[in-house]
Amino acid sequence: MIKTKIKDLGSYIDQEVSLSGWVYNLRSSGSIIFLQFRDGYGFIQAIVAKNSVDEEIWEKAKKITIESSVVLIGKVTEHPKQKGIYELQVDNIDLINIAQEYTIGKKEHGPEFLLDNRHLWLRSPKQWAIQRIRYTIIRETYDHLSREGFIKIDAPILTPTACEGTTTLFEINYFDKDKAYLTQSGQLYIEAAIMSHNRVFDFGPVFRAEKSKTRRHLTEFWMMDAEMAFSNHRDNMTIQENLITSIVKRVLKDNQEELKVLERDIKPLEKIETPFDKITYTEAVDILQKQGRGMKWGDDFGVDEETIISRQHEKPIFVEKYPVTIKPFYMKRDPLNDKVAMNSDLLAPEGYGEIIGGSQREDDYETLIKRFKEYNVPIEPYQWYLDLRRYGSVTHAGFGYGLERLTAWICGIHHIRETIPFPRLINRLTP
Ligand code: 4AD
Ligand code: MG
Repeated sequence: MIKTKIKDLGSYIDQEVSLSGWVYNLRSSGSIIFLQFRDGYGFIQAIVAKNSVDEEIWEKAKKITIESSVVLIGKVTEHPKQKGIYELQVDNIDLINIAQEYTIGKKEHGPEFLLDNRHLWLRSPKQWAIQRIRYTIIRETYDHLSREGFIKIDAPILTPTACEGTTTLFEINYFDKDKAYLTQSGQLYIEAAIMSHNRVFDFGPVFRAEKSKTRRHLTEFWMMDAEMAFSNHRDNMTIQENLITSIVKRVLKDNQEELKVLERDIKPLEKIETPFDKITYTEAVDILQKQGRGMKWGDDFGVDEETIISRQHEKPIFVEKYPVTIKPFYMKRDPLNDKVAMNSDLLAPEGYGEIIGGSQREDDYETLIKRFKEYNVPIEPYQWYLDLRRYGSVTHAGFGYGLERLTAWICGIHHIRETIPFPRLINRLTP
């Protein structure tokens, strides 16, 4: 008996195989039971015909309920009309667990009900597809960055200070005396590591005590920060567009089945090629004002503003040189205009908005001290960060992507909460 997986069935036409998995739906015509079966790798219809199995097997088949776990043994056939679609003509069944009446039935459920049952919802085909694409994005990030000379450096999660400002910090008691904070980004730590390795990235969970209740905000999400020595603002954008393009190509190559399950229109993804367009923050404000948005130079963009700008482009677009007043202390300023930073946000197309934030870093010791003062950031806890400017400072830059926002765009999912296995939102910490 060949134990195999649904995705490999093409090699076993007319042979007897065994598949282990779950029945996600079923119907009966009296003398035939059609089992919609999944094994984690794919989906298939399995057919149990009363007149071609033993009485005892037929009785077992009748006991199967939605989400029961079973081993099915049978002959692989190709669908008479659809090439490449296989079926299993069952002749033996091993019942592993007969599921109780399943809570996520066939009827439509609201998002809160599905989120309460996230541990089960993860099994449904769309959720299956999203997690597999998320994993391809993770894998291509490692592969692409490795090819580009990066190594992964793990940044700490418990930190004594803020990275992105104090308004969204989660604070915890750290034993008797100290406070600790959950990291908002590993950036400052990987800035240290580039002085040892030149190019590094981190990838892990980060935390933002965001009060925002939007479709793009989670309180816990996964960020990939990359940092490069001897690189400036321009180099930074080139590395980002190459990474995003290679991620999209990899998903198109490896996840056709998943994209189909998601009913994702892949035409917009097929258009993603380097180079990406670049506009300045000032130009973006101009566009928005012409569209009648009541905003002035110096205001930060919200979801709506980013949506308007990103809808105007087929490819991701860099918005660069934001006012320093709405960006963190560590960004280097434009030597030609010290009101703006040498930074960029990358906005995804189709209205998805910011997926990456990045900048060239202030690498001059005296200037950085000045910034700490301007931003009212206490210098003492950042002495180690200042050391990086005391000992062999170099021009450097980096960026961070939000894995959930990137996944939502590539999958064409409206709300990013579906792209993380167990979302954490202001009003949700369970399951
Ligand atoms: O733009 P952000 O805040 O940049 C940083 O944290 C830098 N230290 C990164 C760096 O230069 N190494 O966050 C980076 C990305 C955003 O572009 C967005 O995709 C995502 O993280 N992000 C969120 N994703 C989900 N929920 C939230 N609350 C998010 N906040 C930011
Ligand atoms: Mg940002």
